[in-house]
Amino acid sequence: MAATRIDGKALAAKLKENVRGEAASLPRKPGLAVILVGEDPASRVYVTSKRKDCEECGFYSEEYALPAQTTQKQLLELVAELNGRADIDGILVQLPLPKGLDEREVLLAIDPGKDVDCFHPYNVGQLTIGAPVFQPCTPGGVMEMLKEYRIDPAGKRCVVLGRSNIVGKPMALLLLHAHGTVVMCHSKTPDLKELAASADILVSAVGKTGLVTADMVKEGAVVIDVAMNRNGEGKLCGDVCFEEAAVKASYITPVPGGVGPMTRAMLMKNTLTAAKLHQGV
Ligand code: GUN
Repeated sequence: MAATRIDGKALAAKLKENVRGEAASLPRKPGLAVILVGEDPASRVYVTSKRKDCEECGFYSEEYALPAQTTQKQLLELVAELNGRADIDGILVQLPLPKGLDEREVLLAIDPGKDVDCFHPYNVGQLTIGAPVFQPCTPGGVMEMLKEYRIDPAGKRCVVLGRSNIVGKPMALLLLHAHGTVVMCHSKTPDLKELAASADILVSAVGKTGLVTADMVKEGAVVIDVAMNRNGEGKLCGDVCFEEAAVKASYITPVPGGVGPMTRAMLMKNTLTAAKLHQGV
């Protein structure tokens, strides 16, 4: 295997340790409220890990597990209440929301100063003009990994597979701000394979097991796998055929143990940022 395996777990632990140290020096503990509506099992797992991360970082956390029948009005009322709470610095509404709830309206209702997911249009706008208050967690985590391994996107061809609001779009923006030449590919891109194979840095965020095969990886490319899929045996895996891609790549992220832990660490970092803002530190 030629590639260096990027250790997201170790880097996330280091980031969280720094966050814990800074949090301890604040007059008041950072506080995070996480709202989960409905019974999606994957979301349940994410929310439980967020609570654990808060404990590790010395944060105060609250979890609201609401039934799938929760109305838009009830959800908006809870967000409004949390917006007004002085001990809550960050509000995270776990997505996707059950059918019938208007995700956009809910995200718009979150105080932009507490929007630690960086999903509010105000924060998306700040990100777009290159002046973000919060880093979008998953793409921000990817940028931290590149920095740690001294991979500079400047002058490189960066190909992003997937155009979601959570990953693909903000990932493209961060790479662009880092002076990469960015190509975004999606389900309607006719020559996706060729474009992927031209990437110096390839980021896959599609959610399709086995999508990225060795012929889509340029010799020496950096391969970042953002996806969290389950294969036929229920095992967690990404979009990239890891073993075969690793033969050609220079650096590659595993799934699990790559981008996932970094996303969580970035959420802690954003909550710390919010707490500092709220406490005037
Ligand atoms: N669902 C999948 N990823 C995320 C995330 O980063 N934040 C929230 N709120 N929901 C998600």
